[in-house]
Amino acid sequence: MPVWPGSRPRTEMPPSLYSRLLLPRLIDCACGLGVVSRQRARVVPRAHGRVLEIGIGTGLNLAHYDAGRVTGIVGVDPGVEMHPLALRRAREAGLAVELMPLSAETLPAPDASFDSIVCTYSLCTIPDPRVRAWQQRLQPLWTPLAGGCQLGRDIPALLAAAGFTAQMHARYLHRPHFAGYHYWGWAGRG
Ligand SMILES: C[S@@+](CC[C@H](N)C(=O)[O-])C[C@H]1O[C@@H](n2cnc3c(N)ncnc32)[C@H](O)[C@@H]1O
Repeated sequence: MPVWPGSRPRTEMPPSLYSRLLLPRLIDCACGLGVVSRQRARVVPRAHGRVLEIGIGTGLNLAHYDAGRVTGIVGVDPGVEMHPLALRRAREAGLAVELMPLSAETLPAPDASFDSIVCTYSLCTIPDPRVRAWQQRLQPLWTPLAGGCQLGRDIPALLAAAGFTAQMHARYLHRPHFAGYHYWGWAGRG
């Protein structure tokens, strides 16, 4: 699998049986719900040119790209257990997808390497204080079971702190509420 010069694949402990066998299927089912798929259809077709997809997972976004606007996709995800499903979906969608077993924090790509960056269901949050209390209670159990997902992240604040101007929409789309709050939108600099 080709990687950028200077990039390092994941070197942590070998994945557990749970994260190798069960987690990819669970993520694929939860993230493949109809309500989630409709959110993908709202944002993914806007991607164009050379695309970086952060946390590509099992490749559930691949069916939503506009093949006429995309020249190639680089998908990064340290969860190599999910790559086989993503590769299958890339073939089905007829897209040129290069998968890299990297964390988004350590990408060695130079600035302005991509025309679009897509990141779905890899950041995670909820605003309601009552729900937030539940998130905090559930977090110790949820995070290891859900592949590292942090329920309490404030996504708009994260984007603003990173210097992005974002147009965001947000609301609860499904129950349970602790995992049903969605943000979707577009962010750019300037
Ligand atoms: C809930 S899944 C969502 C997958 C996919 N984006 C989707 O919409 O179906 C979260 C994904 O983020 C990936 N991930 C976790 N930490 C990451 C990191 N540091 N860099 C890139 N991806 C990461 C996980 O391996 C997992 O595939």
